[in-house]
Amino acid sequence: MSKVVLLAGSPSIQSKSSALLQRVARLLKTQGVALELFTLEDFPAEDLINARWDSPAVNEFVQIVAQSDGLVVSTPVYKAAYSGALKTVLDLLPERALENKAVLALASAGSAGHLLAVDYALQPVLTALKARHIVGAVFATDKDFTRNEDLSYQIADPILARLDAAVSQLVAHLPNPEHARIPAGELAKSVQAARISI
Ligand SMILES: Cc1cc2nc3c(=O)[nH]c(=O)nc-3n(C[C@H](O)[C@H](O)[C@H](O)COP(=O)(O)O)c2cc1C
Repeated sequence: MSKVVLLAGSPSIQSKSSALLQRVARLLKTQGVALELFTLEDFPAEDLINARWDSPAVNEFVQIVAQSDGLVVSTPVYKAAYSGALKTVLDLLPERALENKAVLALASAGSAGHLLAVDYALQPVLTALKARHIVGAVFATDKDFTRNEDLSYQIADPILARLDAAVSQLVAHLPNPEHARIPAGELAKSVQAARISI
């Protein structure tokens, strides 16, 4: 079974970019992919700020990433780039941490003006970590999110469609895509049948 690590890079508790990540998690689950979710809260802030390579939490993350086939990373756009907190995590990965892995980036921002932030800011970092294949990023603006009564977010249909397509691509680029239970084209149907919403 393919394994994918999910990394949520927003410090916000009610996070829009994390809502994108949760949606991707549900889609990957329907594909039979095993998931490991990490949020910023999984790392002691002091370990991140002081770049402690020997941090047990960081070491566990590094090991789980090493054993995975792919990474999905989500981030808010902060000051025309990705979040600084996410950078403190990525800085602690070994140089070739993403070698042989497929990577998908997700971002939310206040304005479409910073649509390219993932391309010019985050993707070079993923490339420096030697990601084997970086699937085109999915970018949403705050207008693409509506609050549900339970405070979760409803994501606009065009973004859901982009997430479907991006997950299909990610699965196709995982080292063992034949292990996925459902052909990529069947993804939207199977999610609908499962009555999954977010
Ligand atoms: C400190 C800070 C900086 C931000 N900088 C930008 C920015 O440069 N460009 C932009 O479009 N949105 C910016 N935003 C808006 C967020 O990117 C946007 O609301 C995003 O959807 C938040 O994602 P989250 O809910 O996952 O944290 C900023 C927000 C904060 C709190």
